[in-house]
Amino acid sequence: MKNTIHQTILVLDFGGQYKELIARTVRENRVHSVILPGSTPVEKVRELAPIGIILTGGPHSVYEEDAPRADKALFELGIPVLGICYGMQMMSYVLGGKVSSCEVSEYGTTRVDVVGDSVLFDGVKTPLSALMSHTDYVSQLPQGFTVTAVTAVCPVAAAENADRGLYAVQFHPEVERTRGGKRIIRNFLYKVCKAKGDYTIDAYIENEIRRIRDTVGEDGRVLLGLSGGVDSAVAAALLAEALPNRLTCIFVDHGMMRKNEGEEIAKEFGGKSLDLVCVDACRRFLDSLKGVTDPETKRKIIGEEFVRVFEKESAKYAGNFLAQGTIYPDVIESGANNSANIKSHHNVGGLPADTKFAGIVEPLRGLFKDEVRKLGRKLGLSRQRVERQPFPGPGLGVRVIGEVTAEKLDILRDADAIFREETEKSRVRADQYFAVLTSSRSVGVVGDFRTYGYVLALRAVRTSDFMTCEYARLPYSLLDRVSKRIVNEVPGVGRVVYDVTGKPPATIEWE
Ligand code: XMP
Repeated sequence: MKNTIHQTILVLDFGGQYKELIARTVRENRVHSVILPGSTPVEKVRELAPIGIILTGGPHSVYEEDAPRADKALFELGIPVLGICYGMQMMSYVLGGKVSSCEVSEYGTTRVDVVGDSVLFDGVKTPLSALMSHTDYVSQLPQGFTVTAVTAVCPVAAAENADRGLYAVQFHPEVERTRGGKRIIRNFLYKVCKAKGDYTIDAYIENEIRRIRDTVGEDGRVLLGLSGGVDSAVAAALLAEALPNRLTCIFVDHGMMRKNEGEEIAKEFGGKSLDLVCVDACRRFLDSLKGVTDPETKRKIIGEEFVRVFEKESAKYAGNFLAQGTIYPDVIESGANNSANIKSHHNVGGLPADTKFAGIVEPLRGLFKDEVRKLGRKLGLSRQRVERQPFPGPGLGVRVIGEVTAEKLDILRDADAIFREETEKSRVRADQYFAVLTSSRSVGVVGDFRTYGYVLALRAVRTSDFMTCEYARLPYSLLDRVSKRIVNEVPGVGRVVYDVTGKPPATIEWE
């Protein structure tokens, strides 16, 4: 269990929404981090031997009957601890302090005044402006603790028992809105936990290559489904590095990729030390979608067909291991913790019983998305590949509204390519942008003729997590250029509209 390669910070999750942000901030500071549930037994923590522990915030009050609480023994391991928000209250409570309800809840950016000279605040400009979000506060500290920061309404905004290496902050140092917050975390890592800063992408590659070779053995071969997305592409590049010429990548073209994507994949991976198999399954997918208009049914059919085609194809090639591009958030989301919204993920779940494979290889399982991108660049993948915007598995199948046909897909592909090309050229910032072919037709006039073409919608959004978004304020000049080009260059489109709806209430995709 102990990670002998890198020092580790353990992030114990008490249900807060920022656990990943905390873990990523730690890693940005070149220290490895793992997230485990707040209920992790102390024995397991000892085995993991982290150099420090961070307790996250959470929606609970320590006095609730089933509020998650750490074992007192956790604080007696001699490992430094930083409690954040609920983590602070819970630590204080478990160690004999008192937590009360605030007379006035503190939500939002708040002035925090530092008192005393805690190492946590070394180099932090004070007073600091920090994100507070709490209705409980520590009204009496446990023995041995001193106050290190206050706000106008919170007498204990930060506290510590430096002799025991126990630190606590009521505010959220991990979010951008807290000025100097990242420095506070860095101080905890380097001044309190004495981190060496040994977690780098090079170290990850070296470690992972060794692990892949150990798993697969001297003569093993690996099969990987390449989707064109970032994760499977980076997994392929890393596996090719670890196992030159012992990797077969299968790219199933379901006919719902964007313009030229199949060719680009062949070009990018054709030159690597792996076998690339491109399977043209367009006809088969279109046949199975005939007459289907319901979005969820389309998704289901595409997903099932995909598995069938992949299984059929993979049976033809040697490979005793199956590789997957699972990344760390997939693993966390799949129930490894106690946070409120657990969702299952298609990538996680292990091998079915009747498989021909001896095992799974998941070389990105420990990485966050930004680290996957960094790794991809390091392994020589193109910028376009590693910066690729999210693209749904069912592809253009859910961007052609209603029944999917070859003709509609061709129209959408051409229009979407124009929109993406012009948006990229304009350097406008949007996190996801694409075209949608609606099922509406509208009357138009070209020369002396009446036309009756499809209404095409453009969608461009700004978001950091894709859970919510606002529509991107694209300049009229860009919309104008795109609209003119599409109606002139793409037969079948009669009208172009721009979607000005946020999420919620809309979703990013139309279906
Ligand atoms: P929504 O439409 O739910 O999209 O706001 C949020 C993000 O998820 C992507 N998306 C999908 N990805 N399979 C996927 O792999 C799907 O069926 C799917 N539907 C939506 C969407 O592109 C956006 O980034």
